[in-house]
Amino acid sequence: MNYYFITGASRGIGKALVNCLQEDSNNHVTGISRTPVPDHAGYRHIILDLADTTAVADFKFAALEDARKIVLINNAGAISEIKPLGRLDNSQVARDFHINLVAPAILMNNFIAAYSSYEAEKITVNVSSGAGKNPVDGWSTYCASKAGLDMFTRVADKEAVLNRYSEFKMLSIAPGVVDTQMQEEIRASNEADFSHIADFENYKKSGKLANAEAVARKYLYLIDNPEKIPGVVFSVNDI
Ligand SMILES: NC(=O)c1ccc[n+]([C@@H]2O[C@H](COP(=O)([O-])OP(=O)(O)OC[C@H]3O[C@@H](n4cnc5c(N)ncnc54)[C@H](OP(=O)(O)O)[C@@H]3O)[C@@H](O)[C@H]2O)c1
Repeated sequence: MNYYFITGASRGIGKALVNCLQEDSNNHVTGISRTPVPDHAGYRHIILDLADTTAVADFKFAALEDARKIVLINNAGAISEIKPLGRLDNSQVARDFHINLVAPAILMNNFIAAYSSYEAEKITVNVSSGAGKNPVDGWSTYCASKAGLDMFTRVADKEAVLNRYSEFKMLSIAPGVVDTQMQEEIRASNEADFSHIADFENYKKSGKLANAEAVARKYLYLIDNPEKIPGVVFSVNDI
């Protein structure tokens, strides 16, 4: 059996990942989000607010039977406010770091602790962003939390290579620009707070936003074809 844990499973890239995985009855998926999703064959949903660090730390990765592959995809992400420093709501600053960086870090820690002794193929995929590599005005918390996610993954990979825990593959993969609610939220900002808003409006108008299912299939292709993986931190557009 292949076991997948996917955060942000209620919509966008996460929902597309779940839908694609449902095509194979050997896949058992646990989805996580605040919005409920009905359980169905091969799928169970956990309601969890990833901004609630105590609840995230309490999440238990269950014992698994006949595991051939175990995958954690830290996909959930948030860009709660698009505004320059000086006008950010401090609770939203903390919230973005909790969702985008603290929760994935805690889930990776617990995932490794739970499954180190398993013989299965084990993979952690963090859904990062080009914004973690380049500064974008109005996106300070998002850029910094995604940059942190890239570095956290690099350290995890280093520890895995040094055999600090049995073989886990650690990846931080940016999805490119994808037609999801997150892009709608970006387009709902304004030029006074975000100098690139016209570019993002154009991505939508000119059809440059990738389809979530096509992006999900690229992630799953890499998970199923590890020999094609170019490194630890990269973009699906590099493939
Ligand atoms: N779309 C793009 O162009 C783009 C580009 C670069 C990177 N990314 C990254 O891709 C990933 C997926 O984004 P998307 O575009 O699919 O966004 P989306 O459509 O807005 O979906 C975000 C998902 O994250 C979940 N989520 C948000 N806050 C949460 C919380 N506090 N607790 C639990 N779950 C939470 C949402 O579920 P609930 O609201 O139900 O909780 C939802 O399922 C994110 O990490 C994002 O940073 C996206």
